[in-house]
Amino acid sequence: MRVAVVGTGYVGLVVGACLAETGNDVICADVAQEKIDALRSGRIPIFEPGLEPLVQSNQDAGRLSFTTDVGAAVEASEVVFIAVGTPPGEDGSADLQHVLDVARTIGRHMNAPKVVITKSTVPVGTALMVRETIARETSETFYVCSNPEFLKEGAAVDDFMKPDRVVIGVDAPEAQRILAELYAPFVRTGNPILFMDIPSAELTKYAANAMLATRISFMNQIAELCEEVGADVTLVRQGVGRDERIGPAFLFPGPGYGGSCFPKDVKALIRTAREREVDLDILEAVEAANARQKRKLAQKLLALFDGSLAGRTIAVWGLAFKARTDDMRESPAIDLIETLHAEGAAVRAHDPEALDSARRIFGERIAYAERMYDALEGADALAIVTEWLEYRNPDFARMKSLMASPVVVDGRNLYSPERMRALGFTYHSIGRGAV
Ligand SMILES: NC(=O)c1ccc[n+]([C@@H]2O[C@H](COP(=O)([O-])OP(=O)(O)OC[C@H]3O[C@@H](n4cnc5c(N)ncnc54)[C@H](O)[C@@H]3O)[C@@H](O)[C@H]2O)c1
Repeated sequence: MRVAVVGTGYVGLVVGACLAETGNDVICADVAQEKIDALRSGRIPIFEPGLEPLVQSNQDAGRLSFTTDVGAAVEASEVVFIAVGTPPGEDGSADLQHVLDVARTIGRHMNAPKVVITKSTVPVGTALMVRETIARETSETFYVCSNPEFLKEGAAVDDFMKPDRVVIGVDAPEAQRILAELYAPFVRTGNPILFMDIPSAELTKYAANAMLATRISFMNQIAELCEEVGADVTLVRQGVGRDERIGPAFLFPGPGYGGSCFPKDVKALIRTAREREVDLDILEAVEAANARQKRKLAQKLLALFDGSLAGRTIAVWGLAFKARTDDMRESPAIDLIETLHAEGAAVRAHDPEALDSARRIFGERIAYAERMYDALEGADALAIVTEWLEYRNPDFARMKSLMASPVVVDGRNLYSPERMRALGFTYHSIGRGAV
């Protein structure tokens, strides 16, 4: 099939590369000239495991190309995915200006019948708006479907290639047939394509993210209670997660959820509910709990240094909002570092992939360490924000010898408190006794 993917970010690039991998002819279009230039010259503008070889091989095979000419990409294709960003607007609702811009462009370049698919995460009613926007520009036949994306950054290629399920909101059999064909290679092991009405598909994406965010905030609050009553959240998590009705995933407490999706999608869903005068107060609590959780690591550090961090040097391991990505959007590391900075501490940060993202946020305000141990030299404490594998089994003796004082505040519970005590560290983690 001839496919255009408009918006070549974390989602669009993965979708484009994976659809090319299954034999489609894919044009990825984006307005960001530098992104397209990079991709054309074989450079991937983001870190996403497994993506680079996929892009390279499909480009070499002539099935994947890149352009800034969105209109030309639309004209060349039977199927057009809209995968542009939907950032939060001032009132928390999803800002649809990029989606509707693309819809207008699609309408103006509708040279033959096409299926248009909203892949971006968009509130209920957006597919309808896309349809109306396109219809204002053309009398050509076209179909609009909603196909929200559930991939996880850090495992995006695998998730797209082997989805738990594919959700498609559709109201025309012609469009359903084309999408069934497009997705058939990805569901050969039997995981379902769930065809449904368009509003249900649009809402499914928000409900899924809101549920995941709720689990995280719930466990963060249980962790807080664990600290107060002398329980260990790791044991509680295991005990809870073995219940088949609950399951073990997404029960890890941490420094607060971040990323480009949970924070904005929770906000947008709250907004949708308010507009319809539906009480989604559970999500308002989830959001408030997360905002508090993002302050946790800084609070623990302040408590350890008698309320003042002025003149201290704090090492930070991990800047990305989670491991295996360079994405720092809404990362708890941002809140932590801003607070440390405001409290007069010097920050020396390490991340295996996100240093460039961090430089764009903090500039010269903090120091960057290319290697994890470099961040520790003379540090009064280490704060761990991201659960990168390389932080899991470090050389503790080396850490101790480099640091001015052996203090570790661990937002990811990477180490055993007993072991840290035996090694002579002061060690505070989330929902477990401090040593
Ligand atoms: N990142 C994720 O893990 C993830 C997962 C599922 C769904 N989503 C959703 O997918 C959408 C895209 O997310 P992302 O993380 O890929 O965003 P992103 O910011 O990485 O990429 C968006 C791209 O769209 C481009 N763009 C903006 N306006 C454009 C226009 N008018 N024409 C062409 N290109 C344009 C931008 O230049 C950018 O490259 C969002 O709605 C997001 O909520 C994201």
